[in-house]
Parts: sequence; C-alpha cells; structure tokens
Amino acid sequence: MADPTTPLTMDTIVSLCRRRGFVFPSSEIYGGIGSTYDYGHYGVLTKNNIRSLWLRSMVQERDDIVALDSAIILNPRVWEVSGHVAGFTDPMVDCKFCKLRFRADRLEDAHCGQKPSRRPGEASDCDLTEPRQFNLMFETQVGALADGSSTAYLRPETAQGIFINFKNVAQLARRKPPFGIAQVGGKTFRNEITPGNFLFRLREFEQMEMEYFVPPDEADEWYRYWVDARRNWYLDLGLREENLRVREHAAEELSHYSSGTSDLEYQYPIGWQELEGIANRGDYDLTQHTNASGTKLEWVEQDGTRYTPHVIEPAVSIDRIMLAFLCDAYREEVVGDRERVVLSLHPLVAPVKAAILPLIAKDDGMATRARALYEELRRFHVVEHDEGGQIGRRYRRQDEIGTPWAFTVDEQTLSDETVTVRERDSLAQERLPISGVRAWLDDALAQDWRSPHSR
Ligand code: GAP
Repeated sequence: MADPTTPLTMDTIVSLCRRRGFVFPSSEIYGGIGSTYDYGHYGVLTKNNIRSLWLRSMVQERDDIVALDSAIILNPRVWEVSGHVAGFTDPMVDCKFCKLRFRADRLEDAHCGQKPSRRPGEASDCDLTEPRQFNLMFETQVGALADGSSTAYLRPETAQGIFINFKNVAQLARRKPPFGIAQVGGKTFRNEITPGNFLFRLREFEQMEMEYFVPPDEADEWYRYWVDARRNWYLDLGLREENLRVREHAAEELSHYSSGTSDLEYQYPIGWQELEGIANRGDYDLTQHTNASGTKLEWVEQDGTRYTPHVIEPAVSIDRIMLAFLCDAYREEVVGDRERVVLSLHPLVAPVKAAILPLIAKDDGMATRARALYEELRRFHVVEHDEGGQIGRRYRRQDEIGTPWAFTVDEQTLSDETVTVRERDSLAQERLPISGVRAWLDDALAQDWRSPHSR
C-alpha cells in the first residue's frame, strides 16, 4: 500500500484498469498493437456515462444545440480542403541504427532503443535521419480497386463532418446563429508517431466535438463563454479544481485555422497536459468548403443579409476524460486495520451506482430479499448483486470500481424490512426501509457532489 503522499503513477492506474476490467491492451494474445486498447465491462459503462453527461449538457439541457452523427469515411476532398492532407503532419526522424521513429520536436522526451536507454542521438551509434513531415491520417481504399483514385482516409477529427453538414442542419434545425451542432459517436483515428501514456495518446479514440456557429462580431465573447462553460462542466462532475487549469495558446502555437485556443489542462501523472481544447476557428472551415464545393455554407437573415458564421469549438476525447476522472478519483488508504483502494468517482460517472449484498448468502431469507431489491433497482440503474465471499471483500471490490453505495440485507431486514446503506467515501452507514431504497437512490444521484480528496 502506497503512502498517500506518494505521487500517483500511470502504472498504478493501468494496473487498476486491468485488474478490475476497465481497460485491456488490445490484441494482447498476439503481443498487442501500439497504443490501442479495448474497454472492458466497467470501462464501457463509464464511457457511456461520460458520453451521456456530455450530450445532456450540450444538447438535452440547451435550446441552441442539435446532435449529428456523421460518417467516419468522408469524400477525400474534405481532407484536402480542410488542410489535413497537406498539413496534418508531425515532423519525425528515423534512427537507422535502432529502427525506431521519433517526433523530431520531442526528442528530449523520447528514449532510444539501445540499452541503457538514452535520448535519440545521444549514443555514438545513433544514426538519425533528417526530419521529415509525416501525415497522421490513416489511409484506406474504398471499393474493389486499390488505386490512387480509391484512396480515402479514416477521419482524424469529427469536426469536418459537422462543417460539411452545415447547410442541411441550418435548413432543418429551425435555429439561427448562435447555434451549435454536437457530435459524439464513433471513433477518430490518428497514426500518432509517439503514442503512449495509456489512454492519453491513442491511435483510435472517441472524440466529442461541438461546433458553435456565431455572428462574426460575437466570436470572442462566445469563445470566452465556452472556455468557462467547459471548465465548469468538469468541476460540476467533481474534478478537483487544483488539478484543472486553463492555458491560452501563444500566437506561434495556434493551428492554421485558429485565431484563439485555450486548453483545459489536467494534472495527469505525466504532468499538466491538454484534456480538452476550445478553439475560435473563425470562418476558416465554412469558407474553405464553400469555395471548394460551390455550396454556400453561409447564413441568410430574413432581410436577405448574408454572412459566414464564425465557429467556436470545444473538442475532447472520452478517453482523456476517463483517464482524468480515474486519476482524480484514485486513493489508497488504511481504514481501521484494513487497506483499501477506493475510486471516489462522481456517482453519475461511476460505472455501477449501487451494490446489493446479502450479508449471509446462504441465508434464504436474505438472499431472496437481496435478489428482489436488485431486480427492482436494475430496471432504472446499473446496479450489481454480489453474494460471493466475505462481506468485507465484497465492499472492497465495489470500492475499487467506484460504486458509491452498497445496500446490505441482513438479519434485521428479515424482522423490520430495513437495509443498511454504506457510503463509499465516508463509510458512514444508515438504515432505510427497503421499500424506500429506490427513491433514496434517485434522490442521492440528483445531489451535488464534491470529491472528498479536494483541498
Ligand atoms: N477538431 C479539433 C481537434 O481535433 P485536437 O486538439 O487535435 O483538436 C481535440 O483534438 C481533443 O481530442 C484533444 O483535446 C484530446 O482531448 C483529444 N485527442 C486528440 N488526440 C488524441 C489522442 N491521440 N488520443 C486521445 N485523445 C486525443
């Protein structure tokens, strides 16, 4: 058990995710494939929660944003016009000696293939090529013929699928700027040169992007609005304030399309890194696609005045959010004479909302009542029924997957129809009538929540 003051390492999170079935290395029985992961049961449930909380705040609770699910393989012209074919590149160098490839602009963070490991270029037999630009898009072939004309790309961002649908949505959504189109559904692909750090830099990941179309003179105001709104979304979901910060890009860091970008950075075990980006993309994308396609992607007011809206874009991946939530929630502690690992996740993020446990599984009365309570609750929430092993072990297993509450059916239940509810973080216990458990759980899930680890 680690000293609570010891900094959290990525290995600790990787090992918890594996041990409890959140995330597995992909294709493991064949030796894996770089930076690609498979989500197990609790990982899927947690991802679903993050996705639906994002959609709830972006679409369900607003009047001005609609949803879209565009294709992964788009007409390749989209990526020429967006600038990705020419410019979505990282500079890379190859080492002819150890045959590894590195990002030319991150050599100081890289380790070469020799033992002892050094920075690329440091050992006398390192033989680095000149930097070359390497396009991060994965190519594929569409149709039966594999020639140049059938080349297409797996999307490297979901945003372009939104821009090319601007006219369809603007005509049908009965909304005028400022209005947004939100997209989450399916994956984004990037052939990252130096992937790694678990879920932080993947080759396939699930993006959630929202393009907010505004009158040009309101762009800066809405850009500031979305930086605040997105920061608050994380704080409302219990991310610790001391681990989240806003970093505005300097002019030389800005992407070709951006006139202002702020990163929401999270203090991961690898240091402060981008969790989410909020960009002011101006009219770059709509203008590019208008010029190239001949379809006018513009807004026409009732009085006939026309303009190309500017776009504010909050963009994030579920994978980076999940990694931030897991790191923020992880704690090893000693309670009494027992050690435990606990994930203090926001109850709405936690994969399982409650465990229903008969104190003594062999007791028919307890087992029957626990099963009935479980069958009632599972119609409304993801809950678990566990009757295997000592009660302490069962609690600790639930603590480790972040289940906020456990309802235990014991001897007293058989005489007075009450159960105990145990709270994950404080370990406080109280008794409730069994008939009131469902309403109690609904109510508990609707409460504001703050991390017990907050300073
Ligand atoms: N449409 C703008 C765009 O794609 P980006 O900064 O390249 O901008 C947006 O990506 C977000 O997508 C990032 O803030 C991060 O949350 C996530 N992301 C980017 N690359 C990723 C990767 N290789 N693995 C996991 N998430 C990634």
